[in-house]
Amino acid sequence: MNDSRPIVWKDHKLYLLDQRLLPHEEKFVEVSDLGACAAAIKDMVVRGAPCIGFTAIYGMALWIKGQEVLSLEKCRSACDEMIAARPTAVNLSFEVNRCFALMKASLDKKESRETIYLELVSFGDLQVQESHQKNTRMAEIGFEELKKKVGDRKWNLMTHCNTGFLACGSLGTALGVISYSHSKGMVEHVYADETRPYMQGTRLTAYELQKEQIPYSIVVEGAASYLLSHGKVDAIFVGADRIAANGDTANKVGTATLAIVAKHYKIPFYVVAPVSSFDVSISDGRHIEIEMRAHSEITEFRGQRVAPLGAISVNPSFDVTDHSFITGIICEKGLIDPSRQGDLVKVVKS
Ligand code: MRU
Repeated sequence: MNDSRPIVWKDHKLYLLDQRLLPHEEKFVEVSDLGACAAAIKDMVVRGAPCIGFTAIYGMALWIKGQEVLSLEKCRSACDEMIAARPTAVNLSFEVNRCFALMKASLDKKESRETIYLELVSFGDLQVQESHQKNTRMAEIGFEELKKKVGDRKWNLMTHCNTGFLACGSLGTALGVISYSHSKGMVEHVYADETRPYMQGTRLTAYELQKEQIPYSIVVEGAASYLLSHGKVDAIFVGADRIAANGDTANKVGTATLAIVAKHYKIPFYVVAPVSSFDVSISDGRHIEIEMRAHSEITEFRGQRVAPLGAISVNPSFDVTDHSFITGIICEKGLIDPSRQGDLVKVVKS
């Protein structure tokens, strides 16, 4: 199967584009139960905060389908098993907890297992559909902001990690702003961070930029200071995996370093993420759990040993950017200025 969507629900089956094989191979794998779905999330067959959330909804539908007897306790423990797959992106627990609420309400109404299954599938379909509208809205807001901030000429933009359709289901968040701006003829060049160690930029963002014929260069993270100090970048757009009430933002490791350098050189730095990536239950970024991943992602490359035998590594997959380094947070409800404390919570609740 070849499809420009990374998650396909078809004939009661879930297919995921195996992102570990990109950009060289486009292959879908079928995921048939909760265990396989959680493993696909953990092993990054599917990745990116919004897509992890959507996949988990379909995973819960598959779980319900396989049950003979349902109870609220069994539903809760299945939800907890799914949530444990990856800790940092809040979209996972956000969507799975919404599935749990749906299951609870349906069990209270004594609905059949088949009905709950179909309700979960429709819920998943709806979230994927709505994400397209939300991403389009964020792209428009980012575009208008660029016109105001940088002016009416072609822009040089920079991004970190991968935030396009592979991570978000359609269009993308930060990359959505870039691709929308390109469709309006306003993009001169894009600098895509390679995003070590998993290389989401080199493998995935470059794949997406190339598909859309957007002019781009891949850069190593260490080149940020060179690029920003030489006037090569007008603005930076990144995504988010979890945004705390005060605007502190967890995103792929390396984001915070880039934001700090951007502030030094006075380059506008924007976070683009749907409200489903906001976690206003926590006051600030100190409460965000950072996923630690395998040593081998650093000491090896695609199964080939790079570091000396016996070398170990430390591999935090995310970092937290303090809100003071963020120029603006763009969500589907508008542009939030993180220096105006309290605004973010108001926007989420509006
Ligand atoms: O570890 P990943 O690849 O699942 O990381 C998530 C991301 O894609 C990024 O952190 C991204 O910038 C936010 S999700 C659109």
